[in-house]
Amino acid sequence: CTIGQWDSDEPVTRQELLKGIAGAHGLYCMLTDKIDEEILQAAGPNLKIISTLSVGFDHLSLDEIKKRGIRVGYTPDVLTAATAELTVALLLATSRRLMEAVEEVKNGGWSAWKPLWLCGFGLQESTVGIVGLGRIGLAIAERLKPFGVKRFLYTGRQPRPEPAAKVQAEYVPLNTLASQSDFIILSCSFTPDTQGMCNKDFFAKMKKTAILINSSRGAVVNQEDLYQALTTGQIAAAGMDVTVPEPLPTNHPLLSLKNCVVLPHIGSATYATRNAMSVLAANNLLAGLKGEPMPSELKM
Ligand code: NDP
Ligand code: DGY
Repeated sequence: CTIGQWDSDEPVTRQELLKGIAGAHGLYCMLTDKIDEEILQAAGPNLKIISTLSVGFDHLSLDEIKKRGIRVGYTPDVLTAATAELTVALLLATSRRLMEAVEEVKNGGWSAWKPLWLCGFGLQESTVGIVGLGRIGLAIAERLKPFGVKRFLYTGRQPRPEPAAKVQAEYVPLNTLASQSDFIILSCSFTPDTQGMCNKDFFAKMKKTAILINSSRGAVVNQEDLYQALTTGQIAAAGMDVTVPEPLPTNHPLLSLKNCVVLPHIGSATYATRNAMSVLAANNLLAGLKGEPMPSELKM
């Protein structure tokens, strides 16, 4: 096939995408490309396959895509381990205040070993709540278990007995998870139901010593409410791999807080994982173009 390629690690501009997609049969895209009615119109009726280099598909207007009979490929599983690993790293960095600690070493704030200086919260004997015990949620729980976590709680649209049994996780309503967890991890997909799920009411239910970790999508959290919760001592700390917008402006209030660790959406960023994702996305596209089953097709 003939390939029109945006040959850069930077996202393609909307203008270039609108121009380049005209008449294409397939599209290989990133989560930074919003594939909506305008893009689909620009593509025209040839477009039959969209392959995204991501497991998340909230950047795709699925209603419009479905209406046109377009098939979608995505990249589940190959990024689960890397994303779970990063989430654990973010949790530990946040709960044990690693960023603050490194800063103190550099800026001369390290005067002596002191009994309460830079104390944080440990996982041993803790209760961990997981919002979305899917592929990544389960992989996070499996990695946290050896730290001595006492209880895993999870919530979702319905109980998931099979993955839950692997880590002895209890299915509870969101409110119970909020009020009983020492660590809350967001690993759900972004949908109209999860949008803004962590808001003022949610934070009000959390323990003052609890920590929120988000590696799903930024908009699951209401960031204004999070800022209030972090600055008024309603919750202890937050670690976010995802934000709204991305990138988060450097003058964003959350970035001024010591108890908020923000990472630039690097959950799946290992060389091996990005390679595996790229190959899977390419194979999805090629299979789709040939009218064959894709290695990972999104069920719509
Ligand atoms: P899965 O589909 O396996 O898991 C998604 C989970 O979201 C399911 O357990 C589902 O619960 C849950 N969920 C859906 N709706 C709700 C709801 N209303 N309330 C609570 N939970 C809900 O996907 P993955 O685990 O592979 O990926 C999850 C998400 O992680 C992706 O959609 C993506 O947004 C994000 N991600 C982020 C990365 C990063 O770099 N930070 C990297 C990779 C993924 P149920 O079982 O009840 O349906
Ligand atoms: C995804 O795949 O959805 C992540 O956000 C990036 O790997």
